[in-house]
Amino acid sequence: MKILFLGDLVGRSGRDAVTAALPGLRTRLALDLVIVNAENASHGFGLAPEMARALFEAGADVITLGNHAWDRREILSYITETPRLLRPLNFPPGTPGAGAVIVEIPGNRRALVLNAMGRLFMDALDCPFRASAVELSKHKLGANLHAIVIDFHAEASSEKMAYAHSFDGQVSFVVGTHTHCPSADHQILPGGTAFQSDAGMCGDYDSVIGMAKQNAAARFWRKLPGERLAPAEGEATICGVFVETDDATGLAHRIFPVRMGGRLSPAMPDF
Ligand SMILES: [Fe+2]
Ligand SMILES: [Fe+2]
Repeated sequence: MKILFLGDLVGRSGRDAVTAALPGLRTRLALDLVIVNAENASHGFGLAPEMARALFEAGADVITLGNHAWDRREILSYITETPRLLRPLNFPPGTPGAGAVIVEIPGNRRALVLNAMGRLFMDALDCPFRASAVELSKHKLGANLHAIVIDFHAEASSEKMAYAHSFDGQVSFVVGTHTHCPSADHQILPGGTAFQSDAGMCGDYDSVIGMAKQNAAARFWRKLPGERLAPAEGEATICGVFVETDDATGLAHRIFPVRMGGRLSPAMPDF
């Protein structure tokens, strides 16, 4: 199965780049499954229902969220009627929406997509390790599922690596989100799980993690409440990770970083 995961879309620049490029990428890379983290799509904070609809229309199969999940209140009702829009599964019981979904893929295949959120330097949620283990205990990779992909939304690389190693061999692909900087540690772990500790963002990299640099920098210079941060509006670099899995075992055999457009040096699968 050919899977593309795109990191946090930031603002209009990120949304426009992804909706424009996704139909072409689906064809060019013969993608079976596309997952996009869109927690920062709405002016850097949250996701509006019409933006989610546009991403689904452009070719996203599943949209994931993170700590900015509820910044746009309209999403609270939309998520309850949209199973392919996920929020981290370790929010407290009773939180609207779900943290996992099974997607049917052409060729009689099924993939489980899961979204979890770390706790180191983040809000104190339920334990993402235990919550993920409970969800994964309901499924078996290679039996009734051809792929399992997890977006682990977390700040600390240590927590992301600990998480990925914990589920190595049980899932196809663990990708980190939230830092908005693509990491260069993409690899297939010893048990067969593809891993990259952060996918990076789809946004303007002439910025401070996607936000206009002047106000963002001022916050570090002076500890005063500054003006509200706004997304940088230059051309986005689309950042993500491409993974190819074996349909029989569900494990990964190739992983490539993807970077397209904007300021970062380009990267594309070389096949
Ligand atoms: Fe983010
Ligand atoms: Fe985040």
